[in-house]
Amino acid sequence: MSVALPSFSTWLSARAAHIEGVLDRDMPRAALIPARLHDAMRYAVLGGGKRVRAALVYAAGYGCAPGHQVEPAIARALDCCAAAVELVHAYSLVHDDLPCMDNDTLRRGQPTVHVQFDEATALLAGDALQPLAFDFLAQMPIEAERVVKATQALALASGSLGMAGGQAIDLESVGQSLSMDALQQMHQLKTGALLSASVMLGGLAAGASEAQQQALKHFGLAMGLAFQVVDDVLDVTADSSTLGKTPGKDAAANKPTYVALMGLEQAQGFAKKLHQDAIQAIAPLGESGQYLAGLADFIVLRDH
Ligand code: IPE
Ligand code: IPE
Ligand code: MG
Ligand code: MG
Ligand code: MG
Repeated sequence: MSVALPSFSTWLSARAAHIEGVLDRDMPRAALIPARLHDAMRYAVLGGGKRVRAALVYAAGYGCAPGHQVEPAIARALDCCAAAVELVHAYSLVHDDLPCMDNDTLRRGQPTVHVQFDEATALLAGDALQPLAFDFLAQMPIEAERVVKATQALALASGSLGMAGGQAIDLESVGQSLSMDALQQMHQLKTGALLSASVMLGGLAAGASEAQQQALKHFGLAMGLAFQVVDDVLDVTADSSTLGKTPGKDAAANKPTYVALMGLEQAQGFAKKLHQDAIQAIAPLGESGQYLAGLADFIVLRDH
């Protein structure tokens, strides 16, 4: 007998609260020495964020399991993957906001880590969040071969051939007008890679079949890119209190973005096209892909 699943919004809120609880419980306590560093790490990670990457892990993982039911060991492995991608993401935000990068003072509606603490602490908090992510993956109670594959996937998505590489291209490209292909590559690396990895990690931890992994791969590629296209759009259209960060920064810093290259309406249209591609990619998952489809809608329609 199949049990009716919660609506997407109920599910997303519950998953966001769940990963918040896992991170709060399993991250080093703020009082642990060095206390200022642990305090900054927790400040960077807890109490904010949409938790889209964690939700992608869960939607992919549970979506590959019959009836959205998994054994406790797989559930724990999915928590470890969700924690790991949120930790790498939080570290990337702390460093992205530093004065030597985007020089931002507002993040998730709060002062950025270097403003709340200091630059050196922000640097070290980012440094320490990254290995903590890999420690979570190492704790997954599943076959060692799948742990290794997940570790490699997250390493690739975070390093010079993924997020850090995309961030380097972003900084190099200030003031330049990139070709459409170069802009796409930059966005795929700096943002798409970690979102795609979130989807793939969910599948890996849950033991997805080859066919399911193919569907997840195409979904992740499309939605990873769409996520940054929408981020570029929101930088132009959203206000600071909704966005939780300072809007208008991309144009002010002369960053190449989809809005700068195509104009606002075309960029919005491109995000919609990527959304359709993503929905098509998960057709083979049938009903089980419903929360991935919900996340695709959420990513494209979000206001922050
Ligand atoms: C912002 O990511 C940085 C980008 C990669 C565009 P999110 O919009 O997911 O940030 P939070 O986690 O919800 O704050
Ligand atoms: C950030 O891109 C990508 C990261 C890897 C953090 P942005 O610089 O556009 O992200 P926001 O707008 O500051 O969140
Ligand atoms: Mg940036
Ligand atoms: Mg930024
Ligand atoms: Mg942005």
